[in-house]
Amino acid sequence: MRQRPARLMIVAALVLGLGSACRVPAPAPAPLSWRVAAAHLEDVFADIPGSSIDDFRAGVPEAERHLINASHGAEGISLDKAHIYGEPSPAATDAILRRLGAGRGDVLFDLGCGRGFFLMQALLTTPLPKVVGVELAGSRAAVARAARDRLRAGGLLGPGRVLELREEDLARTDLTGCTLVFMDSVFFSDELLTTVARRLHEAGTVRGLAMIQKGLPPNPWFELAGTERLKMSWSPRFGTDVLFYRPVRGR
Ligand SMILES: C[S@@+](CC[C@H](N)C(=O)[O-])C[C@H]1O[C@@H](n2cnc3c(N)ncnc32)[C@H](O)[C@@H]1O
Repeated sequence: MRQRPARLMIVAALVLGLGSACRVPAPAPAPLSWRVAAAHLEDVFADIPGSSIDDFRAGVPEAERHLINASHGAEGISLDKAHIYGEPSPAATDAILRRLGAGRGDVLFDLGCGRGFFLMQALLTTPLPKVVGVELAGSRAAVARAARDRLRAGGLLGPGRVLELREEDLARTDLTGCTLVFMDSVFFSDELLTTVARRLHEAGTVRGLAMIQKGLPPNPWFELAGTERLKMSWSPRFGTDVLFYRPVRGR
């Protein structure tokens, strides 16, 4: 009789233990169609002052402009193109994600993510469990964080859909676990792109890259797998080349 409380405690501990061991993680929300996701995102950004593509095209604060130009070395400083801003259309983003084959086992990085539209659409429309955005311009990164807060509040993010945002230089960011990369690289310098290509190769997990208009300088690690002409915010009629790269076999 005296042993009963102890026995009860053991049974309770077993039941509780088993309960937590068997707890099934919340399923990831079902992917949305790109049209539905883009409509959600348009609403999200409409609520954030100064967050439209046109607002972004108006420029960045001087200090950020110098910082971005300098991150592209001498070429960046002489070309002075940090104020340029654009994004693929939502339909183009969908085509890029399909071509990359973004799936459950992938982690997608947008190196130079701006306000994060591409990344957010990727997260909402594919089974990707995690995406990472890296942006050096503080004002643009702040808009991306504000949009993420709104998506979270709307229940569109969760354990099965992680959106990580980093305010830092894309050439120095930690690439651990990265399998897919998107770079809207129109004005990125050769120097920066060579550094990125080397670091992506060293990460050892990257299986695909998509870049806009400007591709990787010749390098031993990644080769062109194809191009597609897709519509961008700055070329809505005729589109711009999107270049797809894969790792060179045996490297
Ligand atoms: C053309 S926008 C891309 C927007 C976003 N990728 C999209 O398509 O939705 C390029 C972005 O790269 C950022 N950028 C340029 N150089 C960078 C650097 N060294 N590190 C991080 N971000 C950088 C710019 O501030 C700009 O927001």
